[in-house]
Amino acid sequence: MTVAPGRPGPASDAAVAPAASGEAAGYERADWAGAFCNVSDELSAVPLQAARGTIPAELKGTLYRNGPGRLERGGHWVHHPFDGDGMVTALRFEAGAVSLSNRFVRTEGWLAEEKAGKVLYRGVFGTQKPGGLLTNAFDLRLKNIANTHVVRLGDQLLALWEASSPHALDPDTLETKGLSLLDGVLKPGEAFSAHPRFDPGHHGEERMVTFGVKSGPRSTIRLMEFAVADDAAKGVKAGQLLSERSDSFGGFAFLHDFAITPNWAVFLQNAIAFNPLPFVLGQKGAAQCLASKPGGQAQFWLIPRDSGAYAGQPPRIVPAPEGFVFHHLNAWETGNAEGDTAAAEPAQAGSRSSGQPSGSLVIESIYYADFPSIGPDTDFRTIDFDLIPEGLLERCTIDLTSNTVRTERLSERCCEFAMVNPRREGLFSRYGWMAVAERETGNDPLQAIKKLDLISGERQVWSAAPRGFVSEPVMVPRTAPAGGPEPAEDDGWVLCMIWNGARCASDLVILDAASMQELAVVELPLAIPYGLHGSFVEG
Ligand code: CO
Repeated sequence: MTVAPGRPGPASDAAVAPAASGEAAGYERADWAGAFCNVSDELSAVPLQAARGTIPAELKGTLYRNGPGRLERGGHWVHHPFDGDGMVTALRFEAGAVSLSNRFVRTEGWLAEEKAGKVLYRGVFGTQKPGGLLTNAFDLRLKNIANTHVVRLGDQLLALWEASSPHALDPDTLETKGLSLLDGVLKPGEAFSAHPRFDPGHHGEERMVTFGVKSGPRSTIRLMEFAVADDAAKGVKAGQLLSERSDSFGGFAFLHDFAITPNWAVFLQNAIAFNPLPFVLGQKGAAQCLASKPGGQAQFWLIPRDSGAYAGQPPRIVPAPEGFVFHHLNAWETGNAEGDTAAAEPAQAGSRSSGQPSGSLVIESIYYADFPSIGPDTDFRTIDFDLIPEGLLERCTIDLTSNTVRTERLSERCCEFAMVNPRREGLFSRYGWMAVAERETGNDPLQAIKKLDLISGERQVWSAAPRGFVSEPVMVPRTAPAGGPEPAEDDGWVLCMIWNGARCASDLVILDAASMQELAVVELPLAIPYGLHGSFVEG
């Protein structure tokens, strides 16, 4: 997720100005900004037709997406879209047909504000309650807005927001069941990341690996691994906690995402500082109090997974290059007998070893030149994209013997929201799919989807420009035929929600993941603001 600073200016509800004359942008600002709206309806299993093309008959399952669905209440706008209330969309595919459901997450804050008809909470990204400093100072309540990601775990659908507990939803109706402590795994209000990683079976069975971080002068990461399916033979139930460990590190930690390999959980501690005073005094949102730490040193924190070869060993700390990262693409191990995943076949990690790690750990991430801070006087709809650093895909190779890092840039094109084939998560992967700007260089809104060959640099691009704007693409691999060979790594589909500026509404586009050819476009009877993360659940 990108937090963008803008040209200072009064926040207002005035119409958004067109892109400045002479700007090289190939889009109209009004088209881009049209997505900042409230979702007006909640639909239940409404069948939809493809406006163009044909929905692949083999696509079977549900695309769940989460993101802010309410950006204004009583004439009072959020300061940043990330402060908007979580709304979950479900698109169900079966036999060439698709149906749509959507629901706001009934959080405590959403229910209270619905009832009051006005904004009652401050937002982490700078939204203030109406009434100025006196109203906002010393109100340090967190509004859990459940808007960042949505994943299936066991029989629950979880709407995630990293600073607090997940909300459980009914996977079919999207009805909110309430806050979930995951059968007592979490304490009330405990931080629970919005970026779980799904281990496709590095150690036999699939797992959900995730974390919670408690930040302070020292920060503690709680790493947790959950079963995603019942295993009667082992007496394991889907959703059950299989292992956990906690590790403390020096310094304040801002950890939005992480990556996994068979043996490691990989965290990148950015060199940033947190000064909470303006938050306490009611001048800024908590996330606006983060700033680059001059002279600070970023670090990789490598935590051995309990299921891996180095279980029980202490974490390793490795100096990391400059720059700021929200999201990682993937990580993998190479040159190491314990977990070399660069081989053509997914490697199984070796048995537990007390030996020292060797070889390399590779992590691919989207780097910003600096932390993109946001000011309290900025209207997000007037952002000047030229003043914001763009996200660029880089690969860091960590030599586990020398504790040194080698960095290479994989593409010069502005990108965000990148993923590999989920069956290759944590293993060497040749292809990545990501949202990119229309221009080859420079910072712009995300308008295209790119498939990048991470070895050759070859790429194929599907574009929604000039009037369309993309969100996170989700790659859905084709299911292997019974007894048949494993499909190729890029065999499958890419699903992406588009903001259609011409229609002032949202579309779903389905691409062939290998060729990036457009297979179908479905026009949704909804206008949904730019979303954050989502996942595909087969079946
Ligand atoms: Co994210």
